[in-house]
Amino acid sequence: MVTLNINGQQHELDVPDDMPLLWAIRDVLGFKGTKFGCGIAQCGACTVHLNGTAIRSCTTPVSAAAGEITTIEAIDQDPVGKRVQKAWLDLGVAQCGYCQGGQIMNATSLLKQNPAPSKDDIVSAMAGNLCRCGTYNRILAAIERASGEEEKA
Ligand code: FES
Ligand code: FES
Repeated sequence: MVTLNINGQQHELDVPDDMPLLWAIRDVLGFKGTKFGCGIAQCGACTVHLNGTAIRSCTTPVSAAAGEITTIEAIDQDPVGKRVQKAWLDLGVAQCGYCQGGQIMNATSLLKQNPAPSKDDIVSAMAGNLCRCGTYNRILAAIERASGEEEKA
């Protein structure tokens, strides 16, 4: 039995300790906003937060997910996440949308750790989140917008 705290709620799951967190989130609990891409920590589609920091849920076993997990479904409960999501909508970042939940989770984690990143900081922090539609320029612009609005929040 594993206990996961996801989006502020405790869930008791009868799953093996080594089950990837992504499977528990999507297949057992039904939070479908977190995507399966590569399964080997190479694409970022499965990014969630553990205690506010971005992690790859495809390679994190449920037994290592002690703490508060946040998925894209609840990112607007975080003031930084809400601002990132608004910038995404304002700039129409998403194309097919598949990678975008992971992108937003990673961008929010970045801005929580570094509220005023340089362009190089952003490019480097987002390098592990792949987008097959090539929305990188809009992602960069949205993160710059979200960070620029920091003082007004
Ligand atoms: S599915 Fe986890 S990084 Fe690709
Ligand atoms: S928007 Fe299609 S994969 Fe990124």
